[in-house]
Amino acid sequence: MSVPTTQKQWLIQDKDHDFDGLVYQDSPVPKVGENEVLVKLYGASLNYRDLIIPKGLYPFPSDLPVVAGSDGAGSVLVVGSKVTAWKQGDSVVTLFNQGHQFGPISVATSKSGLGGALDGTLRQYGVFNENGLVRAPANLSHVEAATLTCAALTSWNALYGLKPLKPGETVLVQGTGGVSLFALQFAKAAGARVIATTSSAAKAEKLKQLGADFVVNYVEDKNWGETAREFAPDGVDHVIEVGGEATLTQSLKAVKFEGIISVIGFLGGAEPKDSIMEVLNHICTIRGVCVGSRAQMVDMVAAIEANDIKPVIDQKVFTLETAKEAYKYMWKKAHFGKVGITIG
Ligand SMILES: NC(=O)c1ccc[n+]([C@@H]2O[C@H](COP(=O)([O-])OP(=O)(O)OC[C@H]3O[C@@H](n4cnc5c(N)ncnc54)[C@H](OP(=O)(O)O)[C@@H]3O)[C@@H](O)[C@H]2O)c1
Repeated sequence: MSVPTTQKQWLIQDKDHDFDGLVYQDSPVPKVGENEVLVKLYGASLNYRDLIIPKGLYPFPSDLPVVAGSDGAGSVLVVGSKVTAWKQGDSVVTLFNQGHQFGPISVATSKSGLGGALDGTLRQYGVFNENGLVRAPANLSHVEAATLTCAALTSWNALYGLKPLKPGETVLVQGTGGVSLFALQFAKAAGARVIATTSSAAKAEKLKQLGADFVVNYVEDKNWGETAREFAPDGVDHVIEVGGEATLTQSLKAVKFEGIISVIGFLGGAEPKDSIMEVLNHICTIRGVCVGSRAQMVDMVAAIEANDIKPVIDQKVFTLETAKEAYKYMWKKAHFGKVGITIG
């Protein structure tokens, strides 16, 4: 395949015009440096974070204007003269924080997120450092592989980054977004039990089909944290906390002594009402999670292949051209799992 000189891309122009700050434009295909790789992107997916950057609500560093999107997968087209990790034709997926290779995240590597600090994946061709890519799982399509960059790796880090999940343990996941469904799938593959919450009866059925052992409707049952103890009387070992202000009080009710609440998101607001002393009352760990490292992603890809895990992608898949519609669709919370985008 020859390399064209121009391509289509979505640029986040500024954060003052909501989704109208997203501009679809022609742009030069970037040149490949000696340690870099040019990837023909075929798939992408969206995260809540992608939506709130153009809305000006993202609390972490972003350097606008920037090409949108962190999640991308495709095929290696050109390798730089000093690249050893890749060859033409390899199927790859992007690493969220390009500098976070292994071990704990640092201040510097936390500022290397695609689609925020660095140009992202909502484009036809991207140049990445050879260490900013991971081999895509052989059992996944490009769009499926693209969903692993952010949501999947975050869930993997929550379950394995501090105190690795063990068979027989119980994991509580909140809602049916990308992070929570990956956590459900990883937990079931590990032989753990899963309690899931959702606001919808129809989604509750889908959660059961995916293997959830116990489902609670968090709108009908405001005390769902205590209800979770009907299933896990001693409490749950891991909570995948994505609701923030709206959910932490109930998560504390559900967590076991010495359990972990991984604070990942703030879908229900970012100012929790609980005192920090609750960690002592509940004898638990509350841990902030920032996606994950390349080393963790390599482990996760191996687990996905070994267990033939297929990411849950919403039935409505968009194209690069219609990506702004995908933003609006996800903002309405019309989706189940990941919102996928194909790139021609
Ligand atoms: N820290 C990190 O590294 C990191 C990485 C990835 C994502 N995040 C954050 O994690 C959160 C989830 O991301 P995502 O991509 O999975 O989001 P998402 O796909 O947009 O999740 C949306 C779903 O979350 C559920 N939800 C919304 N409000 C809720 C509440 N108050 N209580 C329980 N569930 C609620 C709903 O499920 P139902 O429709 O079933 O009710 C909704 O459909 C976001 O805040 C995101 O910014 C953080």
